[in-house]
Amino acid sequence: MSKQSFKPGDMLAPLPCIMATCSNGKEDNIITIAWTGIINSEPPMTYISVRPSRHSYKILQESKEFVINLANTDLVFALDYCGCKSGSKENKFENMHLTKAKADIVSCPMIAESPMNLECKVTSIQTLGSHDIFMAEIVAVHVDEKYISKSGRIAFEKMNLISYVHGDYYTIDTKRLGTFGYSVMKPKTTKRRISEGKPAKGNKPHWEKKEAKK
Ligand SMILES: Cc1cc2nc3c(=O)[nH]c(=O)nc-3n(C[C@H](O)[C@H](O)[C@H](O)COP(=O)(O)O)c2cc1C
Repeated sequence: MSKQSFKPGDMLAPLPCIMATCSNGKEDNIITIAWTGIINSEPPMTYISVRPSRHSYKILQESKEFVINLANTDLVFALDYCGCKSGSKENKFENMHLTKAKADIVSCPMIAESPMNLECKVTSIQTLGSHDIFMAEIVAVHVDEKYISKSGRIAFEKMNLISYVHGDYYTIDTKRLGTFGYSVMKPKTTKRRISEGKPAKGNKPHWEKKEAKK
């Protein structure tokens, strides 16, 4: 296996790309964020990394609240636009025809057109270098009812969510490749999960795939 080395860079891929909403009570804004992820399960915690030069930065610093609005293929134009234009010069909600929805806990609006919204309360802000990291607890989650199955399962695979890969937006191929723990699942559990209509199987190990090609 021969590989070329590159200088260190922010090259993790694929990444989620979301629209974060924030408000200082006088103005509501939207900032596109790719530097985000989950950092804790109990309590559920996330982060957004924001350059201090962003108009949203001061709003986030003052309000210590934001909403993560997941983006799907319908919203990719608005997501890109909100990542290129500043709220210091225009109202991105209006210009992108996005509807404000009231959040349960935080004071900033959510984006109604987004399939899923995560209300977040900032717990700490840390300076890293180019960006400051806003760590936050996820205090409420909202899912568009059309993505909730009769059994109450959230059908993420139907949301047409997008990913961000080094400057480009991509659809997510929702062909399931496996389910958490399938590589070590006991045959009894696999059988039970299948009888319950739950996913249990997954792709074969890569070394078996290689052998199959010979
Ligand atoms: C795909 C994409 C991802 C981005 N990710 C981030 C990010 O993680 N952090 C950040 O500070 N800016 C990020 N930006 C840039 C901001 O979204 C952009 O500067 C925006 O205009 C800031 O809006 P504001 O000035 O209204 O706050 C991203 C832009 C795009 C297009």
